[in-house]
Amino acid sequence: MRRRSIINTIRTADTRKLMIRQCKVNVRDETSADRAAVFDLNATAFSDDAEARLVDALRESADEYISMVAVDNQEIVGHIMFTPVTLETFEGLRLMGLAPMAVSPSLQRAGIGSELVTAGLKRCRSQGVGAVAVLGHPQYYPRFGFMPSSQWGIKSEYDVPEDVFMMLELSTGYLQDYKGKIRYNTAFARL
Ligand SMILES: CC(C)(COP(=O)(O)OP(=O)(O)OC[C@H]1O[C@@H](n2cnc3c(N)ncnc32)[C@H](O)[C@@H]1OP(=O)(O)O)[C@@H](O)C(=O)NCCC(=O)NCCS
Repeated sequence: MRRRSIINTIRTADTRKLMIRQCKVNVRDETSADRAAVFDLNATAFSDDAEARLVDALRESADEYISMVAVDNQEIVGHIMFTPVTLETFEGLRLMGLAPMAVSPSLQRAGIGSELVTAGLKRCRSQGVGAVAVLGHPQYYPRFGFMPSSQWGIKSEYDVPEDVFMMLELSTGYLQDYKGKIRYNTAFARL
């Protein structure tokens, strides 16, 4: 009896995973009408509202930003943001930082985050961004081509392990002549 209920539980979990994998989300630009839902999503995914407040602050203070949402059946289930970063002493480079990103906890590990990253990088490329920085899981971002920034002699302004700060060239060789520290919007310092 107990064995059967365990098998049923596994079947239910597998079915749910399959259903999630089959649910095709629509990734689009965030609109002002989405802001409250994006706040709630970030607060839920990160377990407190620091990143949600960061998103609000970035909209106010960044010169430009890319903010995209994943929508499933009219519900916002994912969010990704890119804001300009600078490589100190080198002006004129077109660089963006990917942060934050969040997916609704019940739908994580079903590919929604990957769809957001892929769509966001495509948008960065179309806007002439040469490279993107990210501070995040070293098992996750390399699948999109991100590599430790140390390979270009580039560091984060934050004191973090080498493998968690990564960069991706959207234009081949964009970073090859540059070294230094990447600086984020000052709103990140208040996180
Ligand atoms: C990180 C996050 C956005 C990924 O979204 P997602 O829809 O689950 O991502 P995908 O389904 O495309 O990819 C899943 C992969 O993410 C990676 N991943 C997710 N959460 C992870 C974690 N906490 N630690 C390490 N890797 C993680 C795994 O490699 C996983 O691959 P697997 O399923 O093969 O094991 C999501 O897990 C999330 O919202 N987490 C909480 C908020 C957060 O940490 N945001 C990122 C920092 S800005």
